[in-house]
Amino acid sequence: MPVHRVHPDVSVLSDSLEVPGIGHIPANAFVLHAAQPVVVDTGLGLPDRDFLRTLSTALDPADVRWIWLTHPDRDHTGGIFALLDAAPQARVVTTFVGAGIMSTEHPLPMDRIFLLNPGQSLDVGDRTLTAFRPPLFDNPATVGFFDDRTGVCFSSDCFGGPMPSAELAEGPDARDLAPEGLHDAQVFWASVDSVWLENVDARKFQDSWQLLRERAPELVLSTHLPAASGITGRMIDTLSAVAGLAPFVGPDQAALEQLLAGFEPAGSP
Ligand SMILES: [Fe+2]
Ligand SMILES: [Fe+2]
Repeated sequence: MPVHRVHPDVSVLSDSLEVPGIGHIPANAFVLHAAQPVVVDTGLGLPDRDFLRTLSTALDPADVRWIWLTHPDRDHTGGIFALLDAAPQARVVTTFVGAGIMSTEHPLPMDRIFLLNPGQSLDVGDRTLTAFRPPLFDNPATVGFFDDRTGVCFSSDCFGGPMPSAELAEGPDARDLAPEGLHDAQVFWASVDSVWLENVDARKFQDSWQLLRERAPELVLSTHLPAASGITGRMIDTLSAVAGLAPFVGPDQAALEQLLAGFEPAGSP
């Protein structure tokens, strides 16, 4: 898992997952090097991943004060309990719904939770972080935020896009993919992650991008995209136009069996 210092105040802990037929989906976590250090999401939970070890290359896990869980999907919670153990002062920033979802499998200790809703702010010592609901999301607990000091936006699943290679997916810069490729990847991801788009009113959906347009962050950090610097306007133009998008439908059982048959070694019956 490469770690990229994409901004003086931000480290990206890069990871990715290959999904047949889709590509290499980035699965990042982040460190915001604030006076009270913030870890944003905690990566994949695969047994060969060691989130704490990767995190240690960016800062001492014991110093972490906040774990901002943008939503409790499993690609965001991999290292959360190991980090809670390693960082005795850390509290998990989430919503009532987020804590509720976590309680269905492995409850977060009540005294380690900090509930924050979109529109509210968190003081992390040298700056405030203002929570917002990104326009694209796949989970009702989703809360991203703006760092009010640097303007950097942490957008959770929004702005994601599968990459053609693991190298690109775990690379430092979304601009390494050509603009047309990035456009298509982000629209495709929107059809996978936000399957409700076919039902939305186009004008209301456009309005949901207003806060991002006003804030105009120079740097956008998505869990599912390499760091995106200097292309916010273009990305918003791409994604604010996807109202009505048909949802992705994955392979069914017959297609899966056909796919698997293609993997059988030569000479097998
Ligand atoms: Fe998600
Ligand atoms: Fe995700």
